[in-house]
Amino acid sequence: MDGNGRWAQQRGKQRSAGHQAGVKATRGIVEHCARLRINALTVYAFSSENWQRPEKEVSFLMELFVKAIRSELNKLHENNIRIQFIGELSRFSGGLLDEINAATEKTAHNTGMFLNIAVNYGGRAELVNATRAIAAKVESGELDAASITEETVTSNTWLAACPEPDLFIRTGGEQRLSNYLLWHLAYTELAFTDTLWPDFDGEELDKIIENFSSRQRRFGQTGEQVQSG
Ligand code: IPE
Ligand code: MG
Repeated sequence: MDGNGRWAQQRGKQRSAGHQAGVKATRGIVEHCARLRINALTVYAFSSENWQRPEKEVSFLMELFVKAIRSELNKLHENNIRIQFIGELSRFSGGLLDEINAATEKTAHNTGMFLNIAVNYGGRAELVNATRAIAAKVESGELDAASITEETVTSNTWLAACPEPDLFIRTGGEQRLSNYLLWHLAYTELAFTDTLWPDFDGEELDKIIENFSSRQRRFGQTGEQVQSG
């Protein structure tokens, strides 16, 4: 979800106004994805590198997250959505951590769309974390090192409960992953748009999904193999 700051700047507003507009866009996209019966939606709300922003912006974003979770939780729950937070959550303090835990627990038994919110998330950190968990199991004798497979790694990541992502979308014109879902994106189709996040809506998402549907996903096979398979 990139481009909130530039969206605000273009309108002569503070960056905070861009983040507020970004929350509104997120609400619209979550609703749209739920209507489309998407299995899992993962949004990159705050990276482990975002702490380097001016303190004022960081604290504004933290406040905004708390407020957004608080005001949206009941509706998300009514819509059977399962909320998960992925990232190093221990870095967050009292208020936000309480909201995070409350939202996770309240919706844990829902059976609809997974809404994964990446906060203080880094793809490399996720892999370090998974590696530690696996190493601990080897150390305790629960797991044999030679029997570690890709599935072992996947099941020790923060997205263990979700299917692999089919489609990655980055708004805001930049064409890079910025440490996002590094393990999970191995065979994901990538889409980039210049649209700034606050302007991104269901209509544009539909267009990107339509384009995605026309792509042939070969997973290493030849085009002919895929067609005859
Ligand atoms: C993304 O928008 C939102 C967050 C990181 C929370 P930016 O804040 O990165 O917006 P630009 O890139 O400055 O326009
Ligand atoms: Mg940005």
